[in-house]
Amino acid sequence: MKNRDLSAIITALGGRRALQDLLGVGPSAVSNYLARGSLPQRALGPVCEAVRARGYHIDPASLEITGQQEALASGTGRRVLLIVGGGIAAYKALEVARRLQDHDITVTGVMTGGAQQFITQLSLSALTGEKAYTDLFSLTDEAEMGHIRLARETDLVLVVPATANLMARAAQGLADDLATTILLATTAPVMIAPAMNQAMWGHPATQENLARLRARGVLTVGPDDGGMACGEEGTGRLSDPQEIVAAVLHQLGQNSGTAGGTLRGRHALVTSGPTVEPIDPVRFIANRSSGKQGHAIAAALARQGARVTLVSGPVTLPPPASVDLVEVETARQMLAACEAALPADIAVCAAAVADWHVAGADAGGSKLKKQDGAAPPELILVENPDILKTLSSHKQRPRLVVGFAAETESLYENAVAKLARKGCDWIIANEVSSEDGKPVFGSDSNAAMLLTGNETESWPRMPKAEIANRLAARIGTHFA
Ligand code: PMT
Repeated sequence: MKNRDLSAIITALGGRRALQDLLGVGPSAVSNYLARGSLPQRALGPVCEAVRARGYHIDPASLEITGQQEALASGTGRRVLLIVGGGIAAYKALEVARRLQDHDITVTGVMTGGAQQFITQLSLSALTGEKAYTDLFSLTDEAEMGHIRLARETDLVLVVPATANLMARAAQGLADDLATTILLATTAPVMIAPAMNQAMWGHPATQENLARLRARGVLTVGPDDGGMACGEEGTGRLSDPQEIVAAVLHQLGQNSGTAGGTLRGRHALVTSGPTVEPIDPVRFIANRSSGKQGHAIAAALARQGARVTLVSGPVTLPPPASVDLVEVETARQMLAACEAALPADIAVCAAAVADWHVAGADAGGSKLKKQDGAAPPELILVENPDILKTLSSHKQRPRLVVGFAAETESLYENAVAKLARKGCDWIIANEVSSEDGKPVFGSDSNAAMLLTGNETESWPRMPKAEIANRLAARIGTHFA
């Protein structure tokens, strides 16, 4: 019997694996049913029964399903094509595959030749419940599902890990294996999670490839900073699988709801990075904020299920893929972007906002000239708006406003005074001098004190991502 709506049946059953289990068949049989657009006669009875048991109406003659809107809206039936690259982090792609399925996303795996040196086709296939594809020229695969169909019949192509080599081949538009052919043939969004040695990541060739891929709309998650398998430290670690999953869910329009999803349905506004205040068309006043702390907070809130707007000054960090980024330069632009993002339930102001800007420097003008014998030009500084204070007294004030206090002395006393002066609810005080040889600005770690008005918690030096997780967890509890 010709089935007009086989994908809706698979959705209603809870994914391909459920259909396989119901009929006692393997992944390739289901691929065949999809390719033919029909189910075998013997399957019709059990399928109709199972679909009805899941609360749907099904017409046994046409197999048309009604009442599936809610299931489709919850994300069931979404498909991700997971390309596994050949790096030591390939094993983490298996965890990504498993976690995506926890969200009722069907995952089909594709492996490069390199990936097969690190994990087996069998493990990827067993974890996804689908055939894992490896070969561009396999006649069986072409019969079951050609590479063009693989590339097209998906809501997202996800590459984990995206190695330097795979990124380079994709940036060049090569199609010399199944993975790169799919990347070239797909019309679905592509998201890559790079992972490689820090020198390879920093190499101009890789950065050029990255820029080229981004310019074509390829989304990125990570890489993170930290220790690597090769024993070196730096940027190049694969992002946490949870973070990759959160980015995918964001892209697919679902809330992650991971780790309890305590902030599901909430909107969080986060400021991050420095502001840059022009002196003339080529010079500016700025500070050493890298955005690492603010960006980590944005990612952690998104992992808790919040919709996050990240308003960031100029930084070199890629934004977490699961947030809406608004890029600004000056404090006044940052304030305007924050006000435009309201209403929000939560605001976390982690940006290092310049306190002043230079009077008359915005109007374009020309470069200040150094003239022999003449006195240096006088810069008139004008106070910038205070974003944290403005949000704290705004008519659309977020329910919870959290500020940061960057102090070089009397940490606790200054933080208490700042909490009162700014009118925010909580403040995170961090000692930003570099007495112990580890400056906070730009580094990967931080030590902080959280003041909530009636309680103070001390957080010893730890990775900024961990500070962010702790804060997101505290905010989650506050809203529970
Ligand atoms: O970006 P990283 O390299 O990771 O470094 C992180 C950090 C050290 C920048 C971060 O942890 C931090 O401390 N951010 C706040 C820096 C700062 O400007 O502190 P402050 O004490 O000057 O300001 C107090 C609060 O008021 C902050 O929340 C700040 O965002 C806010 N503020 C300040 C001035 C202004 N005009 N508008 C503001 O909103």
